[in-house]
Amino acid sequence: MSQEQLRPVRVGLLGIGTVGGGTFTVLKRNQEEIRRRAGRGIEVTMVADLNTALAQQVVGDAAQIVSDARAVIANPDVDVVVELIGGYGIAKALVLEAIAAGKHVVTANKALLAVHGTEIFAAARAKGVIVAFEAAVAGGIPIIKALREGLTANQIQWVAGIINGTTNFILSEMRDKGLDFDVVLKEAQRLGYAEADPTFDIEGVDAAHKATLLSAIAFGIPVQFDKAHVEGITQLSATDIKYAEQLGYRIKLLGIARRRDNGVELRTHPTLVPMRRLIANVEGAMNAVLVQGDAVGTTMYYGKGAGSEPTASAVVADLVDIARLLDAAPAARVPYLAFQPDEMSTLPILPLDEVITSFYLRLRVADKAGVLAKITGILAEQGISIDAVIQREADEVSGEGGNQTDLIILTHDTSEGGMNKALAAMQALPTVLAPIVRVRKEELA
Ligand code: NDP
Ligand code: HSE
Repeated sequence: MSQEQLRPVRVGLLGIGTVGGGTFTVLKRNQEEIRRRAGRGIEVTMVADLNTALAQQVVGDAAQIVSDARAVIANPDVDVVVELIGGYGIAKALVLEAIAAGKHVVTANKALLAVHGTEIFAAARAKGVIVAFEAAVAGGIPIIKALREGLTANQIQWVAGIINGTTNFILSEMRDKGLDFDVVLKEAQRLGYAEADPTFDIEGVDAAHKATLLSAIAFGIPVQFDKAHVEGITQLSATDIKYAEQLGYRIKLLGIARRRDNGVELRTHPTLVPMRRLIANVEGAMNAVLVQGDAVGTTMYYGKGAGSEPTASAVVADLVDIARLLDAAPAARVPYLAFQPDEMSTLPILPLDEVITSFYLRLRVADKAGVLAKITGILAEQGISIDAVIQREADEVSGEGGNQTDLIILTHDTSEGGMNKALAAMQALPTVLAPIVRVRKEELA
């Protein structure tokens, strides 16, 4: 049969919000180019959304519109179900039902896969269907494809990325325009970057979902969101952003997955990154992911991490992959998590105490003789080596004639457990006058 004779792939969209709308638009606008690449057409034949009036506005008469997503799954003429509803609730049920019905699935739902991925991939494997999720990590950047296919020769050593557009947008706008946190968050919501529940963005949960998926693909371990360390940007103060800048660093919310001999570090937290690194200069809703492989060295992937059409770009790429593989045997496909399902590693996720990193510390202290010596003595007792110490002038910190000052300490690499002990001892000193601020630091060299 010649390629012209292959019938189009018929797609059912569940959810026609920000990403669903973008997917429909991109598929329609670029249909001819996409057909030439895929070897067959890709047509949205059915759309489900609770808001059918909105769906009507986007889709017009181009596809059948229903309010019940299960009608799409039940339709034997739909080949691929695209889940763009979000969350762990109805989305999980619908994805599992679509798989059970023998449909291939595309989803942008990182929350669902980071938490329930093991169950979903097992169900898909049993049914011989594809579950594709390029849009789930870093929006339009093809990082899943790069890791699963382009870097397949490598032992991946670490992956670190700005993988939440909303928080990067907030940090950039606050720093550059002096805008308030709440104002910028509202703007991120208006632009369609934020999750339905924006606490997922600002508390680091969304980035941790994505880091969990990256760790699985990089190291061939199961998705284990429950073992990830998750910290967002809500506790960050403008003072620390300013001090970090003065020291030559930017603070970015990073998702990090690093292979150690005894396990994998999986963590998301605000991080000081040297300003001279490219990734420190990734601003607004842009994302960037650094991957260190033993053969290739460091590679970096940069682009729009959120928004309607950038994310649709990744959804459509998955649809093209499915269109090309529709008639191929399951064994010919790239494994869901890059490694063959029977070859997954049991390397554990390390407890936070065993994570190795360097630190920025800020201590509000009494401006008295001997204070610095006591503090450096406590760090030395824990074997923590100091990279730099800066003491602000007391007048600058606590006003004319003030007797308090800020002590900023940058350390070399140490264990989180050792640092916790040192922090407890320093905090107990009567000359330490406020809770000590600790931000982790990565050189990403
Ligand atoms: P939206 O809220 O914009 O869209 C979701 C749509 O699903 C809404 O139109 C909603 O209708 C509809 N919906 C809700 N429940 C049902 C249901 N039971 N049946 C049918 N439709 C339903 O979300 P996004 O497009 O922003 O996000 C979709 C997914 O993509 C999420 O998993 C998100 O994490 C992910 N994602 C989003 C990105 C972005 O930049 N926005 C980037 C990458 C991934 P109603 O509004 O009436 O409730
Ligand atoms: N809320 C997410 C973000 C959307 O801001 O990055 C993209 O996954």
